[in-house]
Amino acid sequence: MENPIAFNRLAENNVFRKGDVFVLFGELFGRGYATGLLDEARRVGMEIVGITVGRRDENNALRPLNAEELSAAEGRLGGKIINIPLMAGFDLDAPAGGPTATDLLANMTLESWQDDRLDWDYLEQCRNIATERFTNSLKQVMAVLDGMIADGRNVFFAHTMAGGIPKAKVFLVIANRIYKGRGARHMSSQALLDSDMGKLILQNFDEVSAITFRHLIDFSTAIRQRIEASGGQVRYTAYGYHGTAVLIDGSYRWQTYTNYTQGYAKMRLEGIAQEAWEAGIKATVYNCPEIRTNSSDVFTGIELPLIPLLLALKKENGGQWAEYQWQACQQLLADGFTMKDVFQKITDMQANEVMRPFYDFSAWPMANSQAQSDLTIGTSNEITQMHRDSKVMISDHLSALVVEATGQLIFGASSEPSGPVQWLNHDIVARRLNASHLQWEPPAPSIAQATKDTQVEVA
Ligand SMILES: NC(=O)c1ccc[n+]([C@@H]2O[C@H](COP(=O)([O-])OP(=O)(O)OC[C@H]3O[C@@H](n4cnc5c(N)ncnc54)[C@H](O)[C@@H]3O)[C@@H](O)[C@H]2O)c1
Repeated sequence: MENPIAFNRLAENNVFRKGDVFVLFGELFGRGYATGLLDEARRVGMEIVGITVGRRDENNALRPLNAEELSAAEGRLGGKIINIPLMAGFDLDAPAGGPTATDLLANMTLESWQDDRLDWDYLEQCRNIATERFTNSLKQVMAVLDGMIADGRNVFFAHTMAGGIPKAKVFLVIANRIYKGRGARHMSSQALLDSDMGKLILQNFDEVSAITFRHLIDFSTAIRQRIEASGGQVRYTAYGYHGTAVLIDGSYRWQTYTNYTQGYAKMRLEGIAQEAWEAGIKATVYNCPEIRTNSSDVFTGIELPLIPLLLALKKENGGQWAEYQWQACQQLLADGFTMKDVFQKITDMQANEVMRPFYDFSAWPMANSQAQSDLTIGTSNEITQMHRDSKVMISDHLSALVVEATGQLIFGASSEPSGPVQWLNHDIVARRLNASHLQWEPPAPSIAQATKDTQVEVA
């Protein structure tokens, strides 16, 4: 991608309807991006089908969900789960009796990891075993799914898989230092990439976050062809990340969270959608804004570009509802702090000389630097401390809004997708939210009163 391609329509669904099938390719967590898309699928009465990544038993063997887990997961999803484990990645696969990649990493120490070498031929065997396991299971999943979709139905495949961090203690310590460490605890993300450990992890990210999308497209070919031959339509979507344009100094400007080590896998994901698109398959990666979820909480500071969404709500002609969002966020701050203070911190960070090199789209994903990590993580910590309760954050409130908006945008866009890779920037997210809440009225007298009583400060 030479430039980010902004998605800029408030499109409405005119393909998917009651009885069509929505397939979630990944598990559902309460705060995750997929919840927004699922809300839309449910709204039009689609049948929901999910998968599971499975669970590991005490010997690391992959097993399906047990009855209790399955019923809880189906309850959360509001649909049927095909209970055949689809854990991706090769971190825990190995030839019988041999060590797994995670075991090999576990032999490394904090002193040795930068010089420790891995046996790439052996790891290739592990990777092939994992691919065979995954694709064999996927074949079975698709056979079950095939029986669940009648001719003439439309099908929406939503890929949500991302991950691949191996559970080796030494790596978890390093990851913590890269994503959360400042001062003496800072760790260079480039040092990780230069090591064999880092190269292994990048391969695993590729497997989980990118190649699973290709497997999904490939192994659903028979379903796609049957559905299309019977007059139905099939769509594939995936969530990407490749920075976001947010309001900086009054105009929308591309920026990114750094260091996003998973960025190489996300670019590969974009490439998979491009190839599929060229083959006539409607597969689109939607590059989404930074939000806080189970998966992204590891990245301290990822929430900083999210907070200017409040500015975008105003700029995109937000009415009473947008005003209320400011108020709701203000109320999460401890006494003595205002949204103006929060925005001052973010503006200072954005304008700092240290951040300048990181606004280069073509250089993405850049390695972190000591000064950039200190500034980003420091700003994040300072804003956290401005909150009344560090467990109820402005970024939680705004993340939920982004999930809602992206669900509507992606679902609407999928009737007539415009291309293989699109960016959902803050402008379109804000426009979607404002348009969806035009008829909104304050929920309770007490809050209405609070809205009246307090001047909303616009930074
Ligand atoms: N959170 C963000 O800021 C952000 C921004 C842009 C894009 N995204 C993307 O959105 C998608 C959903 O992520 P989310 O942030 O909502 O978090 P999430 O934790 O809700 O979702 C992560 C998904 O990855 C799956 N997964 C994790 N490890 C897996 C493995 N080894 N094998 C198979 N599946 C695995 C989980 O089952 C889950 O469906 C991801 O593709 C993510 O990269 C997130």
